[in-house]
Amino acid sequence: MRTFREEEDSSERSDTSYEEPDLYEVLGKYYDVWYEDQVDDTRFYLSLAEQLGGPVLECMCGTGRSLIPLVEEGYEAWGFDRSHAMLDRLTAKMERFDEDVQSRASVHHADMRAFKCPRRYRLIVVPYNAFLHLLEREGQEAALRNVAEHLEDGGRFVMSVFNPRLERPEELVRHRGTRTMMNGEIVSRFEAQTFDRAKRRTTVHYFIDISRQDRAMRRVTACFTMRYLEREELVELMASCGLEVLETYGDWHLSPFTERSDMIVLVAKRAP
Ligand SMILES: C[S@@+](CC[C@H](N)C(=O)[O-])C[C@H]1O[C@@H](n2cnc3c(N)ncnc32)[C@H](O)[C@@H]1O
Repeated sequence: MRTFREEEDSSERSDTSYEEPDLYEVLGKYYDVWYEDQVDDTRFYLSLAEQLGGPVLECMCGTGRSLIPLVEEGYEAWGFDRSHAMLDRLTAKMERFDEDVQSRASVHHADMRAFKCPRRYRLIVVPYNAFLHLLEREGQEAALRNVAEHLEDGGRFVMSVFNPRLERPEELVRHRGTRTMMNGEIVSRFEAQTFDRAKRRTTVHYFIDISRQDRAMRRVTACFTMRYLEREELVELMASCGLEVLETYGDWHLSPFTERSDMIVLVAKRAP
């Protein structure tokens, strides 16, 4: 697997548009135990890769939840993320695979608003609400223009975010479940969410309780803020950055998008 850590610039770590501490740096270790069973989006990317061919670029790839199945299935896949903790998990997971699989992965440390890859891609994806971490219009536009520049003619760009139906409970602490890690740690996740409707932002506070039979329980906390976006706003934003939305779905079964959908899944191409 090729890695490009030498491109790292220490100034990237102090980005004041992010809430501190960075959720992913703090909780990267616990990400997979919560999200590894989410495979519907990855299946969709695999089916598109089958139609379009590679290479594939996963922006904000985290621990490689989608990137790893893509390289396993024989596609060349590139990924980048701004979190060292998430990329460390990805790298450790890749070590399980033989050299052939590893050679198809290229992973590097970069920011979505400024990434530069030395080629274009048949398929570019930004999975799982990741785009909503970009809080300002300027950063969103820089990111999408960058995507358009890296997309091959005839290629596709897929983004998925939650559909902002804001009737969710606010400020209540909700138990999101309990999981057991391979090392025997029992991890319980609690969340409290607030909405700033004027700024169209939502902040999620995480409380992770980690216990083991032989040790006292410890709690890790972190929070992050997302700028939620309606479908029309996203379509307009993408159009202003050279991306034409071709299809919008409301879930990974590819149901048509409606106001009541849980998700917004957008499939776009480079605008002519
Ligand atoms: C919800 S996770 C998604 C991870 C992975 N794509 C998945 O689907 O499991 C969001 C990821 O976005 C990354 N991220 C947030 N802001 C970023 C930025 N400006 N540039 C690059 N990555 C960023 C985080 O570090 C985190 O790994």
